[in-house]
Formats: sequence, structure tokens, C-alpha cells
Amino acid sequence: MQIIDGKKTAAEIKEEIAREVQIMKERGERAPHLAAILVGHDGGSESYVANKVKACEACGFESSLIRFDEDVTEERLMQEIDRLNNDPAVDGFIVQLPLPRHIDEQRVTEAINFRKDVDGFHPVNVGRLSIGLPGFRSATPAGIIDLLDRYGIPTKGKHAVILGRSNIVGKPIATLLMQKAQPGDCTVTVCHSSTRNIKEICREADILVAALGHPGFVTEDMVKPGATVIDVGTTRVPDPSRKSGFRLCGDVDFDNVAPKCEFITPVPGGVGPMTICSLMKNTLLARKGL
Ligand code: GUN
Repeated sequence: MQIIDGKKTAAEIKEEIAREVQIMKERGERAPHLAAILVGHDGGSESYVANKVKACEACGFESSLIRFDEDVTEERLMQEIDRLNNDPAVDGFIVQLPLPRHIDEQRVTEAINFRKDVDGFHPVNVGRLSIGLPGFRSATPAGIIDLLDRYGIPTKGKHAVILGRSNIVGKPIATLLMQKAQPGDCTVTVCHSSTRNIKEICREADILVAALGHPGFVTEDMVKPGATVIDVGTTRVPDPSRKSGFRLCGDVDFDNVAPKCEFITPVPGGVGPMTICSLMKNTLLARKGL
């Protein structure tokens, strides 16, 4: 059994990006520039955005943080998106989600120029991914693909089972794993809340991706010996012994499942740290031009 170290892999990727950016700067080229729009003061969003800004510094990127109060109007937000779409000094930008209830997230997502949509949420990028064109891949699925690649985990002809069908993880990881590519070329099954015989299907998986947000859902009896298990779960469970008051809990019963696996990602320190790397890779790609 080998533990997939997402923290170490993410640090390596950020160093590689920083080296590339250093070379760009030495050639007299402008560094990539990521802007982030943050509405309100949600604790989770504040810390995600702070980490994104920190990653920009580590990679040698420019970054801008644009803040709005919780009661900003949708029209004011749309105006800012329009400004960023037309600012040649900004290569890519994100609008941190979730947004307050009075703002239509889908309208906001679709207002972003897809060439600057480094989150990969715009329908054009989702469509491009689906037909195998280059584009911005959403962060978590792209991070999983990088881990499979860097650990040399065979995927061709393997049966990948995905638990969860969300637009930002389940669907795009299913799409990427079924592409004729390396990593890829899997036979993919997507399970969801209406799937029958979920345990039996999981037991058929060579690669099991758990992305349901249900702590400890995947138990030892659901895993084939020698499988690769990728845990995308990051549920915050109250824990008074921690300074933060919570701990992150994955979708996999790690202690009992790990001994059966060939490869497994821990929570935390598995898929999580890779997601910001994907955003940095997308921003570098945006700088070079899609
Ligand atoms: N909120 C939680 N994850 C994300 C993400 O990847 N991008 C944005 N924009 N908001 C998020």
C-alpha cells in the first residue's frame, strides 16, 4: 500500500511553475496575473481565497483581491466581471463561490469570458473538456489526474467508479477518466443517490473516486484488494481539540480501507492541496493564451 502524498506533489508542481515564471520574467515577459472576487466574509471562502493569493506569491504570479460587501448588487458584480474580462493585465479570474442568495451564480459564471475562466466552470470550458479540446479543467478533477500521472498509476482499460455526480467533481472526473488519454482510457461508472447495488459496483472498481461529501461512506467491504482509492471528501466535523474547532473528514474509512489498497489518498493532504495547483496551472495557461 502506498499513500499518495498530495501535499508533497503540490509543492513540487508549484516549484516547477515558479521556475517557468522566473524564466518568463528573465525574458522580459509579464508574469501571469490572477484576480479573485470575494463577496462577503464567509470564513471558509476567506481562507480559500487567502490560500490562492499565497499560492500566487509562491509561483511568482501577480494577484489582485477584489472585495465586495455581502449586499452588493448582481449588476455591480456583473460590471466588475466586465471590467476584468476587458483588462489586458489580468490573465484569469475567479469569483469565489458560494455567492449570497440574491445573486444568480449561473449568470455570474456565464458572464466570465471563457478564455479567462481559470476555474473551468464556464459551459464553454465544460464542453471543450467533454470533447477533448484543450481548455481550463476544473481544479479538483485536474488535481486527481495529476496525482494518477505522477504516481504512474495505470488507468488504461481499468474500471473507474465515481461516487457523486456534481458539476465540479463527479461529472468532470468521469469525463477525464474516459478520454482517450494517459491518464484516462478507463471504463467509467458514475454512482449517485439513486444507484442500486452501490457496494457491489464499488467492489468492481480498479479506481474508486469518492466525492459524495458523506464522511466514512466507503468501508473496507466496498473495496477490491489492490484498488486505487481517491478520497475527495472534505467534510468539516466539529473537533474541540483543534484550534480551528473542526477537522476535515474524508468519504473513506481510511484506517480500515488503506491496508487493502495499492494506492490511497489521505484526508487531509491528498486531493485537497492539488486543487490550488490546478488553478495556478490554469492561470499560467491563460497567460500563454488558450
Ligand atoms: N468555492 C469552493 N471551491 C471553489 C472553487 O474551486 N472555485 C470558486 N470560484 N469557488 C469555490
